[in-house]
Amino acid sequence: MRTHYCGELNSTHIDQQVTVTGWVNRRRDHGGVIFVDLRDREGVLQVVFDPDDAVMFSKAERVRNEFVLKVTGKVRSRPEGTVNKDMATGEIEILGLDLEILNESETPPFQLDDADVHDDIRLKYRYIDLRKPEMLERMKLRAKVTHFMRTFLEGNGFMDIETPMLTRATPEGARDYLVPSRTYPGHFFALPQSPQLFKQLLMMSGMDRYYQIVRCFRDEDLRADRQPEFTQLDIETSFMNEDDIMSIMEKLMQGMFKDVLNVDIDTVFQRMPYSEAMQRFGSDKPDLRIDLELVTISDLLADVEFKVFSSPANDPDGRVAALRVPGGNSLSRKQIDDYTKFVSRYGAKGLAYIKCNDVAAGREGLQSPILKFMPDEAIEGILQRTGAESGDLIFFGADKEKIVNESLGALRVQVGQDMNLVAEGWSFLWVVDFPMFEHDEKENRWTALHHPFTAPNIDDPAELEANAGKALSRAYDMVLNGVELGGGSIRIHRTEMQQKVLSLLGIDEQEAEDKFGFLLTALKYGCPPHGGIAFGLDRLIMLMTGTSSIRDVMAFPKTQTAACLLTSAPSTVSERQLKELSIRVRKPAVEG
Ligand code: AMO
Ligand code: AMP
Repeated sequence: MRTHYCGELNSTHIDQQVTVTGWVNRRRDHGGVIFVDLRDREGVLQVVFDPDDAVMFSKAERVRNEFVLKVTGKVRSRPEGTVNKDMATGEIEILGLDLEILNESETPPFQLDDADVHDDIRLKYRYIDLRKPEMLERMKLRAKVTHFMRTFLEGNGFMDIETPMLTRATPEGARDYLVPSRTYPGHFFALPQSPQLFKQLLMMSGMDRYYQIVRCFRDEDLRADRQPEFTQLDIETSFMNEDDIMSIMEKLMQGMFKDVLNVDIDTVFQRMPYSEAMQRFGSDKPDLRIDLELVTISDLLADVEFKVFSSPANDPDGRVAALRVPGGNSLSRKQIDDYTKFVSRYGAKGLAYIKCNDVAAGREGLQSPILKFMPDEAIEGILQRTGAESGDLIFFGADKEKIVNESLGALRVQVGQDMNLVAEGWSFLWVVDFPMFEHDEKENRWTALHHPFTAPNIDDPAELEANAGKALSRAYDMVLNGVELGGGSIRIHRTEMQQKVLSLLGIDEQEAEDKFGFLLTALKYGCPPHGGIAFGLDRLIMLMTGTSSIRDVMAFPKTQTAACLLTSAPSTVSERQLKELSIRVRKPAVEG
């Protein structure tokens, strides 16, 4: 139908006759001349209609926003003074010679350039929302990224293999989406939370290097970086250790950032043990662009009168930590109150602080409601360890270690953003040496930090049992700018070890057989050493496009409450369908 995309034309096409198609972005009448900005995937082009051709002109008068047109015309340069530098095609326009209205449009529910449209309306009319240039750009970038991934991985010997969507519950720890079986009444498929077990089976099948860009389903509480269905770049390899896998993934990221964003990143990413990340940043996905750190001061406060500090300081599971904020002295009472509210969301019971007016003046130069509870040595120790300078503010967290890490870790990022302390650039990081197990105090049992197929750094099952609390896993997470981009591990490839890990996790033989029997059996028939990783594609695109939610980079995302406003899913279904599935739904009680 067309010879060119609208956005493709420029001064090299002057005097050519072209045919373009697209949507009316805007129509303006100017003293007997009609201007139509025509928009397609590649950009916007100005079309001019002269009144000389009365039939065509009256058609042009009829067009409204979002009408679909086909225009044949002649490319010409815009008259002196009317060149639009903000438009890629701003040096030219086309003089309309033929106009066909391919379709009309009702008045759209919102204008594409209106920045204040409610999210619900945008999602309901997503096909209109997606016409916005910024949305188109994000979809294009996403397609470029997946194209690069495929090319890179295929170039490195990886095979794209599909795995089932109708399957059994998989062990990523979220709630499953279930699909009732018609043929087996009362039985359900689960949609995969990830292809974890299938990709391991593919290694046992000898596929050696597998990848898939695959949809995963998790029924969990949603946030800006979590959707009920999302996409992973899923990878598994045989006969590679963690260094081999990490090194290939670094090259993938480097190539992709160069190809898609023309950004150079170092190929060897920093590696940080989990324990260091928690101590210094209170997080297993620290944003290293923010130069603020937590320091432990428990030892300085074990004997102070102030119970808020001394009791966690003496608790083996407690922590007292300080966060120095350079220039934080300028924070107002109200701002400090807001931060106190902020940390309470993470379970913190308060947010003590010291303002440092003049550190050389000792106690006199400081300002804080807690000073009266603190001996000089403690104060000096804190100033020294945090490196506080005049003009700074020091925040304190004192509680169970987990609460201090989560609250000060989040505060560190929030303060960093609020005070413009986030450095430019791309901060890639591997977090490694995770503990193999965490102890669940309430249930008095071990839980896995990754999934239960991750190998420990101890090869002997009996030794692992004896040292469960100290064992590390062979897992690695890739973090980018404070976001967990991907995670993976070397897997267990021996039956005895797999059984031992499952039993340490409190999964007895019967349950293990019921849930993962097929994997345990497969381990017995020649399983190669193997390992892999999965990246959150949506999160990656969110970061690469500088958006703040993965919804902005998915064509048809769901709402915060896991609904699709476009199709009104989930929806009720007919009695007949339910009956076929042997599902009885309790009728809501009738009033009266
Ligand atoms: P994991 O559960 O860490 O590992 O998931 C891998 C990556 O997927 C992304 N992700 C999500 N993105 C959007 N919405 C969600 N609800 C969501 N949940 C996870 C994250 C995360 O880092 N099978 C293992 C991988 C392996 O061991 O190879 C797995 O799925 O970016
Ligand atoms: P209070 O004695 O409860 O008035 O607390 C004195 C100061 O300590 C206030 O600034 C509180 O915000 C702060 N605070 C109380 N509990 C904690 C805690 N667990 N961690 C850090 N600061 C706290």
